[in-house]
Amino acid sequence: MSDALSFRPMTAADLDAVLKIEFAAFSHPWTRGIFEDSLKSYECWLMFQGSQQVGHGVIQVIAGEAHLLNITVKPESQGQGLGLALLEYLMDRARDRQAAECFLEVRESNTSAYRLYERYGFNEIGRRRGYYPAVGGREDALVMACSLVE
Ligand SMILES: CC(C)(COP(=O)(O)OP(=O)(O)OC[C@H]1O[C@@H](n2cnc3c(N)ncnc32)[C@H](O)[C@@H]1OP(=O)(O)O)[C@@H](O)C(=O)NCCC(=O)NCCS
Repeated sequence: MSDALSFRPMTAADLDAVLKIEFAAFSHPWTRGIFEDSLKSYECWLMFQGSQQVGHGVIQVIAGEAHLLNITVKPESQGQGLGLALLEYLMDRARDRQAAECFLEVRESNTSAYRLYERYGFNEIGRRRGYYPAVGGREDALVMACSLVE
């Protein structure tokens, strides 16, 4: 099928295309430097629909605990279930690495991401005040967690 989803690890050669999607999707995008550091330390994945790069995600797994650091779907490709497919893929990779639980922070105003995380099974467990820079000030992060074991 030409529009089937596939995934592969991100490399430094992918960063131009990744940054194009990142800057189109986010008001406060990750920089090239953050992605370069992430490639050294974390699991960074790309998602393709057919031959088209449509998203990326970054997870950190340490001592049985995963952290979702970035999940992004190209704006033109959003609203088709690709975000959920990418989240499912990343959580399966975390399970492969023996993570029993995953944590994430999400901007309070980011309702589409919040609903996506809830749909997967994340629950809100806390709030970090003024965690994110925002236009004209700071914004709270909501902390969410999801068990990855039965
Ligand atoms: C958050 C994000 C990854 C979600 O990606 P997405 O591909 O739009 O996610 P989905 O398509 O799975 O779900 C989005 C919506 O589309 C709906 N949807 C899913 N499949 C659908 C379909 N086939 N037809 C119609 N609607 C559909 C979902 O129900 C959901 O609706 P809701 O927002 O009202 O709950 C994306 O919006 C994004 O990249 N945002 C910018 C970056 C960001 O904020 N990342 C998270 C913080 S790190």
